[in-house]
Amino acid sequence: MIFAANFKTNHTRKSTKDYIEALSPKLTDKRAEDRIFIFPPSTALDRFEGDFTLGAQNAYPTHNGAFTGEIGLEQLDEFGINTILIGHSERREHMHEDQQTVAKKYRFFMEQGFEIIYCIGEPLEIREAGDAAVTKYLLAQFEGIDLSYEKMIVAYEPIWAIGTGRSATVEEIASTHAMLKSNMNRPLLYGGSVKPANIKEITAIDGVDGVLVGSASLDVESFAEMIFA
Ligand code: 13P
Repeated sequence: MIFAANFKTNHTRKSTKDYIEALSPKLTDKRAEDRIFIFPPSTALDRFEGDFTLGAQNAYPTHNGAFTGEIGLEQLDEFGINTILIGHSERREHMHEDQQTVAKKYRFFMEQGFEIIYCIGEPLEIREAGDAAVTKYLLAQFEGIDLSYEKMIVAYEPIWAIGTGRSATVEEIASTHAMLKSNMNRPLLYGGSVKPANIKEITAIDGVDGVLVGSASLDVESFAEMIFA
């Protein structure tokens, strides 16, 4: 299983360090086949020791240059970071990243050999329109994305389940993951209100290879509880 923590715009440089210092010793007991990812805010990126992968929540597809407010490869290289989240619904929505922008970013970081967690997910009105609408919407988020890239992991995160406390149901996750798996052959995470109370039922679903967790990952004990559930 893959357990990924997306801090979003939470935690500081100091609290991220404290979090990792608390988590790292626990990870010596994790199942060997499990992988742990942590995506802190970019100000907290650093070199850390431990059996986990530190990644960037976002970066601009450039080595360096004149892109005020952005970070590029040079800033990630300083800390040996070669893992990135691309396509998160919050960036698509709030930062207006369209599919073309997302695909361009994907291509750049793929060419750099990064491990990419590529996020897709539908809004509530699409879910309510039925399975065919969900399939069409989600597959459109694969446009311009090389699904054969061997260092890519897909994260399915229904927007209506993110930060709402309302996870998708086991049936919704199972059927959506089955549909996605019939269209690609990469590990597939579920995200959206994953928490200690539902982690076991979610990771038990066929076609779920792991979870991408926001709110319930912010507290280190809560994230550890999910890893060891
Ligand atoms: P929540 O776990 O807070 O619903 O967030 C999910 C998410 O967006 C992770 O990327």
